Amino acid sequence: MKIAVIVGARPQFIKAAVVSHALAARPELTEVMVHTGQHYDDNMSAIFFRELDIPEPAYNLGIGAGGHGEQTGRMLIELERVLLAERPDWVLVYGDTNSTLAGALAATKLHIPVAHVEAGLRSFNRRMPEEVNRVVTDHVANLLFVPTELGRTNLLHEGVPPAQIRLIGDVMYDAALFYGAQAAARSDMLGRLELTPRNYILATVHRPENTDDGRRLRALFEGLAQVAERYRVVLPLHPRTRGALARERVPENSLARLDIIEPVGYLDMLQLEQNAALIASDSGGIQKEAYFFRVPCVTLRNETEWVELVESGWNRICPPLTAEAVARAVAAALAAPRGREADFYGDGRAAEHIVDA
Ligand code: UD1
Ligand code: UDP
Repeated sequence: MKIAVIVGARPQFIKAAVVSHALAARPELTEVMVHTGQHYDDNMSAIFFRELDIPEPAYNLGIGAGGHGEQTGRMLIELERVLLAERPDWVLVYGDTNSTLAGALAATKLHIPVAHVEAGLRSFNRRMPEEVNRVVTDHVANLLFVPTELGRTNLLHEGVPPAQIRLIGDVMYDAALFYGAQAAARSDMLGRLELTPRNYILATVHRPENTDDGRRLRALFEGLAQVAERYRVVLPLHPRTRGALARERVPENSLARLDIIEPVGYLDMLQLEQNAALIASDSGGIQKEAYFFRVPCVTLRNETEWVELVESGWNRICPPLTAEAVARAVAAALAAPRGREADFYGDGRAAEHIVDA
C-alpha cells in the first residue's frame, strides 16, 4: 500500500517524523513524502529532516510564501500533478496549515482517501486561517485521527460518522517522549546561551492575530520586556514575526531586553522547553510541549483548542492587549500551584496506532 504524506510547515515535520519511523517499520507500506515548500529556510525546514532522521522528501514543490489563495492554489496545482503520477492508496495530512488543506482537497477531488492527523480541534474562531483549514479538511477526510476526547466530541457535533473517527492520542507526545530523551545529550543550548535551569522564560510569537496587529504586537513585546526585568526571556524569532517587528515599530529598548535568537532545531527547542521556568507562546504545539515537560504556560491568544490544559491549571489564556496584562499573567502563572495530572494525550504510541489503522 502506498501512502502519500503531505507536509510543508515546521510543526508538520515534527509530527511526520514519528509517523515516518512507524511506517518504515512496516514493509507492506510505502511512504512517499511530499514537501510543499511552504517553509523553506534551513532553520524552518531542512534542519528538522537532518536532525530527526526523516528521509529526504520524494518531492519538494517549492511553493514558498504568498497570500492564502495564491499559496494554497499553487499547492493544489502541483499536488494534483504529483498525486496523478504517484497514484497513492491514501493521502495523509497533518494539522491545520495551508499545506494540510491543499493536500486534502487535491486528494479528495481525485477520489484518493484522506487521513487527517490532529483532526477535530476547534478554536471556534473562523478568523483564524487554521480553523478554516481544519474544518474543511475534517469534512473531506475519510479517516480522522483525533488526539483528545474533545476532538471526537467536536466531530460528532458536526455530523462526522463515528466509524471514521479514531481516538489515538497525540503524535506530538510521541515525538516529545522520543526526542525529549535525546535532547540533554544532543543539544548544548543552555550552555551556548549561558542559561541555568528554571531561571529563564521561553517565548515564541507567530500568530497573524498578534503579528499583524501593531497594538497587540507592541503590547506583547513590551510585556515580555517587563518580565525581562526579573527573568531572562529567550525568544526564537519566527520569520513572520521578524518582518512584523520591523514594520510595526516595536520600541528598540523593549527588544533589546530580550534574548532574541534565530529559530532553533527541535532538539535545541526541547532543551529550552524542558528547563524553562515558564513558557509564554501563541503556538499550538508549544502549549502541549510545556505540559509534556510540566512547565507552566501562558498562551498569548484569545482562546485555545487545547482547553484541557487550561481546565487542569497548566495553561492560562492571556490576550496580549496591554503590556501589563502580559506581565501580570506571567507573574500569576509563576506563582500558581502545579496543575492537575492527567493522561490527556494518549499512550505515546499514537504513530503506531495511525499505521495500524
Ligand atoms: C504557518 C501556518 C500556521 C503554523 C505555522 C507554523 C498557515 C495558514 N499557517 O504559519 O498554522 O502555525 O506555519 O510555524 O498555513 N517565512 C520565511 N521563511 C520560511 C517560512 C516563512 O521567511 O521558511 C516568512 C514568509 O515571509 C512568509 C511568512 O514567514 O510570508 C509566513 O509564512 P507562512 O508559511 O505563510 O505562515 P506562518 O506564519 O509560518
Ligand atoms: N519549534 C522548534 N524551533 C523553534 C520554534 C518551535 O523546533 O524555534 C518547534 C516546537 O518545539 C513545536 C513546533 O516547532 O514542536 C511548533 O511549531 P510552531 O509554533 O511554528 O507552529 P504551531 O504548533 O503553532 O502550528
